[in-house]
Amino acid sequence: MSVPKTLIRPLVRALHPYVPGEQPKIKGLIKLNTNENPYPPSPRVLKAVKAAVDGRLRLYPNPGADRLREKLAKLHRCKPENIVVGNGSDELLAMAVKCFTEPTRLGLEVSRATVQYFTPSYSLYPVLADIHGATRNAVPLRSDFELPDIAELKRGKRWRFDAALTLITTPNAPSGCGYPVRELDALCRAQRGVVILDEAYVDFADDNAMRLAMKHSHVIVARTFSKAYSLCFQRVGYFVGHPGLIAALHKIRDSYNVNGLGQIAAEATLDDLGYYRSNFRKIIDTREQLTGDLTKLGFRVLPSQTNFILTKPPRFSAKEWLQKLRDQKILVRWFSAAEVRDYLRITIGTPREAAALVRVAKSVLKA
Ligand SMILES: Cc1ncc(COP(=O)(O)O)c(C=O)c1O
Repeated sequence: MSVPKTLIRPLVRALHPYVPGEQPKIKGLIKLNTNENPYPPSPRVLKAVKAAVDGRLRLYPNPGADRLREKLAKLHRCKPENIVVGNGSDELLAMAVKCFTEPTRLGLEVSRATVQYFTPSYSLYPVLADIHGATRNAVPLRSDFELPDIAELKRGKRWRFDAALTLITTPNAPSGCGYPVRELDALCRAQRGVVILDEAYVDFADDNAMRLAMKHSHVIVARTFSKAYSLCFQRVGYFVGHPGLIAALHKIRDSYNVNGLGQIAAEATLDDLGYYRSNFRKIIDTREQLTGDLTKLGFRVLPSQTNFILTKPPRFSAKEWLQKLRDQKILVRWFSAAEVRDYLRITIGTPREAAALVRVAKSVLKA
């Protein structure tokens, strides 16, 4: 029995959903496709979560994740009013589109309905714009994936300085490229709408732009516990910004948007930052080692400020490499978008996983 098409909004019928990386359960697979952290949460976090699995599961969690916001406020030297927590930063990004842009409609100024971003960057942004019925404005980065400066953006005439919402992945994904805070600051100052600096990977970078969220009332910094804090499974992310913007987001969020165990895990994470900082160091060291090893084999590896690398492989196409690596139980990510289809995105795993990748790459090149 089929469902009449008319039951579903035309917008949803026409929608191309976001495609998450594969989560296969193949034994012995080395999984380097979704930028997960190869190291487990700290023992203190695991203990805190396990200790919370009891009769309390019948109760609703704290609606505003208040204790977590207090701890985050201390960490970032701001107030809890500057923070909203979400079911992963993905939820908050979707809320931001709803909160700051209008659905496109006849007679409305285009800027009010515009969600703007660079390409390539996080491939969820266009989907969020489409879900809301907003207008997307995708503007290419430079050919080396660097940020165009204001003069270039003005010359190009495609960038809208009046866009209701601008989303910037920094450091960028999938390029791994870091953007200087000075350049981000200049761009923020030039924008009239809300700007979100999506710092999902910033703990693996040399610098961060949190100070811009404190300095400009229209700038929000997005962070997540997923990548650097080994907590994808629990879905916790947060925004830091002006209390005026943050209050607007609180108004539209689900009452209990952050699950209780997620709150407990994130709070315990903040009590054990030393553990995570040593993991960042290990991941950065592995990234640099892998970059050197693959470069020696003829891969072009872009300098990365994240927990993944984007690399153009030698001899075979990137798509062929994807399959050849998979045949040897190594899973990496390939995107079909024109700007990146010649590249593979490889998550930084443990040193042992990186060494296995290099070994397999060598064998593919020898065959
Ligand atoms: C740039 C970027 N932002 C946000 C996210 C979402 O993170 P979360 O797990 O907090 O929803 C991701 C996840 O892949 C990402 O790559």
